[in-house]
Amino acid sequence: MGCRGAIIPQKVTIRHNARMTGTNSSSLPIGIFDSGVGGLTVLKAIRETLPHENLVYLGDTARLPYGTKSPESIARYATQATAKLLLHDIKMLVIACNTASAVALEVLQRQMAPLPVLGVVVPGATAAVAARPGGSHLVLATEATVRLGAYRRAIAALDPGARIKEKSCEMLVSLAEEGWTAGHIAESIVQRYLDEAQADGFKADSIILGCTHFPLLRDTISAAAGPSVAVVDSANTTAAVVQQTLRSAGSLSAVKHAGDLTLLATDGISRFARVGGQFLGRALSAEDVHLVDL
Ligand code: DGL
Repeated sequence: MGCRGAIIPQKVTIRHNARMTGTNSSSLPIGIFDSGVGGLTVLKAIRETLPHENLVYLGDTARLPYGTKSPESIARYATQATAKLLLHDIKMLVIACNTASAVALEVLQRQMAPLPVLGVVVPGATAAVAARPGGSHLVLATEATVRLGAYRRAIAALDPGARIKEKSCEMLVSLAEEGWTAGHIAESIVQRYLDEAQADGFKADSIILGCTHFPLLRDTISAAAGPSVAVVDSANTTAAVVQQTLRSAGSLSAVKHAGDLTLLATDGISRFARVGGQFLGRALSAEDVHLVDL
């Protein structure tokens, strides 16, 4: 059933709903998806920046990880997740997954226009370049994100003088999913990745957490990297771009009460709640999460 040629498979059709292009979209939710719970770090930042917005989050836990899959599979998953979120009448789509952003952002932007579609790679690159202009950036990401060179291109476009090294760190996804984000096991795995990345003499001024799971390991990564290294992620910059985009479209929520949060997962809602609570910074129960099929 693999797709040949085109990255977005023709079999998966996305139907635009009528309200997508309507003018009174302020009360509609923002749709956010990730391969699992990692994108909740982005959701958290969006919620802090825009507390009155309704949010629908989809974690494709049945097919996690995306980072080791082929671009064709990742694109198919991203398209199916988008189609599911469209059923919620979303006014904007945030791809809160670096791997899916690296593979599918441009195609989804084209397919979904005029619905705004935002990824997390450019916001992450923007944060790093702002923190260390003209600096050396070490990007920690999944295999697929590294293979596609998404951060390398994004940083080079923003700051041609920057030096960039990309390192895939699949084991960090597992550590974050397991909740082992501190202690000697996490420390020695992080140290090994940093040593490997800098074995050729590359000296990072910034480390980009180029995977939505890695902010959970921020303290461990910062401690291993040392105080002179800026450790940045996409979450806050993405939230700021979401705010700007909705403001310029006149689509910011007009209500004064807290927005609704709907959580969807494609498998393991108890695990999603248990691990997701750590990403979100507050306890979740399985009743907070709806099981869906794509
Ligand atoms: N969410 C993915 C990312 O940000 C990491 C986990 C995965 O491989 O699915 O790249």
